[in-house]
Amino acid sequence: MRSAVKMHAEDIGFSKLNQTKIVTTASELGRNVLEHGNGGRVMIEHIKELDRSGLRMIFQDEGPGIDNVEKALVDGYTSKCGLGLGLSGSKRLMDDFELVSQPNNGTTITVTKWT
Ligand SMILES: Nc1ncnc2c1ncn2[C@@H]1O[C@H](COP(=O)(O)OP(=O)(O)O)[C@@H](O)[C@H]1O
Ligand SMILES: [Mg+2]
Repeated sequence: MRSAVKMHAEDIGFSKLNQTKIVTTASELGRNVLEHGNGGRVMIEHIKELDRSGLRMIFQDEGPGIDNVEKALVDGYTSKCGLGLGLSGSKRLMDDFELVSQPNNGTTITVTKWT
């Protein structure tokens, strides 16, 4: 998954630094889908608007969901024994970060980076 994301990011014309930010985010959010969400899916799309171009990634699972999103986004918060930097770090690394989650109703995280 990391190399597919890197290939897309390279194709779209992101700088090396932004490629690294995108791959790091994909790795963290992908890991969360597996570790916390009981597995799910990842979609990657190239978005082209009139005046801008970017990469959007959607991470979706039907796992337990996040009951307190605000708390989950705090640096260092983990309900297991992770570093607790996946969500907060991804939010910082990307331009847009949207988290929709309800207990028992899964989690969908949509992130976008513009070139
Ligand atoms: N897809 C998910 N489904 C359910 N809970 C999640 C999901 N992603 C994150 N979480 C919750 O948010 C917390 C913080 O996530 P993160 O910042 O990646 O830290 P870590 O994975 O190291 O615990 C997790 O410990 C978990 O409780
Ligand atoms: Mg994590």
